[in-house]
Amino acid sequence: MTHQITSQTISHAIVPSLTQSIYDTVAVWYSDHIQQQHALGESVYPAHESVIPAMLTMLPPLTNLDVMDICCGTGVFTRALIAVGATRATGVDLAALLIEKAQSYISPVTTANRNLHSTLTYVVDDATWLLSQPSSSQDVITCCLGLTDVPNLVRVYQATYRVLRPGGVAISSIIHPAAPCSTAEGGLDYLPVAYHEETVYTTNNHKSVRGRVPTYHRPLSQYLSLARAAGLQLADLVETRAPEPLLRQQPLYGHVPYGLVLKFQKPGAARS
Ligand SMILES: C[S@@+](CC[C@H](N)C(=O)[O-])C[C@H]1O[C@@H](n2cnc3c(N)ncnc32)[C@H](O)[C@@H]1O
Repeated sequence: MTHQITSQTISHAIVPSLTQSIYDTVAVWYSDHIQQQHALGESVYPAHESVIPAMLTMLPPLTNLDVMDICCGTGVFTRALIAVGATRATGVDLAALLIEKAQSYISPVTTANRNLHSTLTYVVDDATWLLSQPSSSQDVITCCLGLTDVPNLVRVYQATYRVLRPGGVAISSIIHPAAPCSTAEGGLDYLPVAYHEETVYTTNNHKSVRGRVPTYHRPLSQYLSLARAAGLQLADLVETRAPEPLLRQQPLYGHVPYGLVLKFQKPGAARS
């Protein structure tokens, strides 16, 4: 049995809405930042450590399902999907340079997970529209730590709804909107914006992602109401803790949530 790995990039010319991702401008720093903190797909990046276990728990059995990971970046979660048994996984990101990086990580992960029947595809596309994806073509859509990077959340939910099959599920994670921000000096500070307002901010901590790219902040209630408006039904919600090493460094994290993991379902009967 041969291992089939495919990759595909969609020409920007046939995706008229596509704008360059801000992540392309920080791609080298960002992929080094993530890569320094994990080896061969085993992430020890604190945000990943906090949310990935909860996201994996929410997945249905993935054999023979079509699974798509939007805002996949360097593919940390896309590879995790293959590692837990996905037969077909597609990673989608707006940043062409991060998709290239994701493709370069295919080999070590395939060796590690020994999932010899899987197909892993990467596509450059905008999660706001998903124009490369036919309607009702996916059983599961995941989004790991991506929704605070998109300015138009309702459009992402609408595109997710369109691309999901009836009964399909969408599982996403973000750093919790009420979590404090790390400072350049290694401490923690209050959220720099008013919690209840929808707004955008960048911190002055250039050692963190939030100091390099804008964060689109929304209160938790908005993640739920916008999904409902797009037709998605809430199926699960978990507020995750900070991982142990971070808790030891920053005891304040013991008093607040660190990550937010949401599962929605498109109404209808899921195919088995
Ligand atoms: C914080 S990174 C998370 C990457 C990855 N999911 C992970 O967990 O390592 C956010 C990602 O969202 C992508 N992104 C932002 N806006 C996007 C959009 N409109 N469509 C697709 N990807 C987008 C960025 O390029 C970036 O790779």
